[in-house]
Amino acid sequence: TWTPANIIDEQVARIREQVGDKEVICGLSGGVDSAVAAALVHKAVGDQLTCVFVDHGLLRAGEPEQVEEDYVAATGIKLKVVDAQERFLGALAGVTDPEQKRKIIGREFIRVFESAAREVAAAGDVEFLVQGTLYPDVVESGGGTGTANIKSHHNVGGLPDDLQFKLVEPLRTLFKDEVRALGLALGLPEAMIWRHPFPGPGLAIRIIGAVDQERLRVLRAADLIAREELTAAGLDRDVWQFPVVLLADVRSVGVQGDGRTYGHPVVLRPVSSEDAMTADWSRLPYDVIARISTRITNEVPEVNRVVLDVTSKPPGTIEWE
Ligand code: XMP
Repeated sequence: TWTPANIIDEQVARIREQVGDKEVICGLSGGVDSAVAAALVHKAVGDQLTCVFVDHGLLRAGEPEQVEEDYVAATGIKLKVVDAQERFLGALAGVTDPEQKRKIIGREFIRVFESAAREVAAAGDVEFLVQGTLYPDVVESGGGTGTANIKSHHNVGGLPDDLQFKLVEPLRTLFKDEVRALGLALGLPEAMIWRHPFPGPGLAIRIIGAVDQERLRVLRAADLIAREELTAAGLDRDVWQFPVVLLADVRSVGVQGDGRTYGHPVVLRPVSSEDAMTADWSRLPYDVIARISTRITNEVPEVNRVVLDVTSKPPGTIEWE
């Protein structure tokens, strides 16, 4: 019978058999799949596993800390953090085209991960790379397996030939709800387990316009308020994703106190979906939307207008870029 404890035992035995006494590397994204996959491998082979977290500076408020502090505390995993924020911002400077942003972020990610992997490999006999591939990913890609390409999140090609690893994919037979159950049984932080899907290019594709530190700060503040209020209303699991989008190149007139303002709008984009292929806008209670709107315009001075996206997918996409 399927219980988290059974699956964990079975996977731990398999991983030990596959890996033997070799070293293993794993990239953490902040998402649930890589977190659970790494935790399983750590349970199986302990410090033969080194995790790498590339902080590209495009995550939401609190997320890097969730990986670097809460996750490490919960698992005892050996983590190498690469602070690449300036590098990513530098590469993104002035770029407004969505696909261009994706290309740049994917390229930089591979380069940074590659150099971190080289450092880890220089210290030991690294033969394996952990990937959080789920059953639906296996089906979608035609069931293939083999060598490494860290493309899951960034839709780019893989590592160079001299850095090829064999894959360890302990979630290959599992669905998302099963992965969450494993993560909870492994004692991972709840906030990671229930995190909504989040795109690899992160907040860069939720700033409509060029990305810079200041715009990221504004979007992070607004996004945090939306997440806090959704959670407070007990609605986290009623929505599939809840992008908050900053229209950084748009300004509109407002009024606050005695003065006229000329600030930026943010868009709330809560959606319901089964698989992200199609989606509908979530009918969140008006009072929740009202609280989010009031708090954002009160607490984030750069934002003077909050709008709600009521477009289904199709014809809209979930993200704005
Ligand atoms: P759209 O916007 O196409 O998004 O309706 C469908 C799902 O994919 C996510 N998404 C991405 N994920 N890299 C990712 O890893 C990307 O470039 C990317 N673009 C969109 C989006 O958040 C939604 O879950």
